[in-house]
This record gives sequence, C-alpha cells and structure tokens, in this order.
Amino acid sequence: MTDAAPVIARGLVKRYGDIVAVAGVDLTVEPGDVFGYLGPNGAGKTTSLRMMLGLIRPTAGSAKLFGRDPIVDGVKALEGVAGFVEGPAFYPYLSGRRNLQLLADYDEPNSSSLIEEVLETVELRDRAKDRVGGYSHGMRQRLGIAAALLRQPRLLLLDEPATGLDPAGMRDMRDLIRRLAGEGLTIMLSSHLLYEVEELCNRVAIIRKGSIVYEGQLGDLLATATTSYRLKTRDPERARTICLNQSGVENVTIEGDELRFSADEDAVAALSVALGQARVAITQLVAEVASLEELFLGMTGGESSDHDRQAVAS
Ligand SMILES: Nc1ncnc2c1ncn2[C@@H]1O[C@H](COP(=O)(O)OP(=O)(O)O)[C@@H](O)[C@H]1O
Ligand SMILES: [Mg+2]
Repeated sequence: MTDAAPVIARGLVKRYGDIVAVAGVDLTVEPGDVFGYLGPNGAGKTTSLRMMLGLIRPTAGSAKLFGRDPIVDGVKALEGVAGFVEGPAFYPYLSGRRNLQLLADYDEPNSSSLIEEVLETVELRDRAKDRVGGYSHGMRQRLGIAAALLRQPRLLLLDEPATGLDPAGMRDMRDLIRRLAGEGLTIMLSSHLLYEVEELCNRVAIIRKGSIVYEGQLGDLLATATTSYRLKTRDPERARTICLNQSGVENVTIEGDELRFSADEDAVAALSVALGQARVAITQLVAEVASLEELFLGMTGGESSDHDRQAVAS
C-alpha cells in the first residue's frame, strides 16, 4: 500500500453526448477525512463517484485511490476501498445475513465472524434473520454499509447514504458514520442536503453543474456565507433605521414587528452592538439555516443554480 491520499481526482470529466455530467473535477480526500461531496440533484455527484470507483471510464482526467487508478490498475486499485452508488442492491426475499453471506469472500476463513461483526457495527444483528424486503429504507442503507465493511476497507465511498431517511434513520446513519470515522476509516459521502451532513463532515467539496465551486472546511464556508436573519425587538422602526445604516447588513425588510436582513457574521456582530448602544432591546435574533442553495448564491454572485447544463466548449 502506498501513502498517497485516499482520493485524488484531477480534471475528471464525463460527457454523455452533449451532456456534460462532470465538467472537470479536482478534489483531494485526506486520510481520516469525513468528506462531504455536496451539490444539488443532477450536479454530477453520482457520476463522479462512479468514476472514482472505476465503474465508468472518465472522458478525461483521472481518479486515484491511494495512488492507484481503477481504470489503469483494475481491481487492485480497489483494495481497501468499498462503497455504493445510488443505493445498495440486495435480494429482497433473502435475509440480511444471507445477503451478506452471498457477498462475503468464501476464501476468507473468518467470513462468518466478520459477517456477525459488521451486522453488529450497523446494529442489524437483531433483524439479520429477517427478509430484506421487509426492511426500512434506513435498515437497507445500513445493510449496504455492512456489505461494504465486509471488504474491510480503509476508504468508504457512499452515495447519498442519508437521503430519504426519516429523522431517526438519519440520526442512526450519522451515528454510524461517526463511529466508523472514529475507528479510523476515511469516508467520502455525497448529499444534496447540507443539513444532513454538516455536523458530520470536516471537509466538503461543493459541485454545481459538474464543476467544483468550493473545496475546504465547511466551517470556513459557513462563516463567510451571507446568512438571513430574523430580528425581533421592542422598537422595530428604530431597529430598522439602525439596520439600514449598518454596513454589511443588507436586504432589510420589515413585517409587523419582525425585521429580516442578510449579513455575514462580522456585520451581525456589529449590528447587535449598535442596537445595544441605541438601547433597542433585542427579544429574538435568529439565523436561518443556510441552505446549499443560498451558499451557491453567495458563491456565484446571485446566479441561480438551475439544472440545465450545456456542453462545455472545447
Ligand atoms: N448514463 C447517463 N447518460 C446520460 N446522462 C447522464 C447519465 N448519467 C448521468 N447523466 C446526467 O449527468 C448529470 C449528472 O448526473 P448525476 O451524476 O447522477 O448527478 P447527481 O448524482 O449529483 O444527482 C445529470 O444531468 C444526469 O442526467
Ligand atoms: Mg446522485
């Protein structure tokens, strides 16, 4: 095994005729990362992950896993790597355990104890004898992770593992991913919803229309992003005047006794001081959760992220 980074994508492109599914992706996943690959539906996440896993051939560029290219080095590149794209597939009429038995490596002498271990890890041991057809969506996703863990990977690539889960299922998934990360696995997971993964990921890449528009710490991104706020005060009219005069506080509107505006962290800090100095009592100051969509707006200067895409001129 080499010491190269778990995932290095350089100039990854995938075209389907005139459609550019992935327009040139560069990203690096470092050892121990829980790396969020974020972007709206149709942005190119699944296609990128397929190329990383060697399931499809890039039109241009390359993806390397621990320094090995799945197209050049074949299955050898997938040593220590596991995952799924667009949801794991199982035989619905067989039990969870039987499905794992079919996937397990028969040459591996400890495969049955490994199966029990991975069932335990994903908390499915109680239900392992039941048919997969009767599993909830969350249980199926967890079984998918169990199947991946059979390969005893150092890198897990998961395509939207939390999408479509109810809040309890999402919490279980987050706990599981945290646990796996705690055991030293490097994890790259995709999502089209920021809130699903924001507590989980130490680093993110945001893909939009096939191109990476941000790669780095999620915290840094959120701190610089303009956030919408709702403000309730004892004196909304005076608060409004102060807001309008406060640099960095924008899009100020008033509805009844509630003000709305957008601001970055520094501007909202200065505003709260200004309101205090003017003796305008704040009763509520609430930041709206920044959605991916809003982050895109901030990053792309107001151009909306619709889903149409055009062939890149080459
Ligand atoms: N096999 C394919 N043939 C044609 N177009 C495809 C194919 N796979 C994906 N696409 C298109 O590429 C774009 C990116 O798709 P995808 O990678 O699935 O996005 P995401 O996973 O981010 O939702 C979409 O416009 C999609 O319709
Ligand atoms: Mg997808």
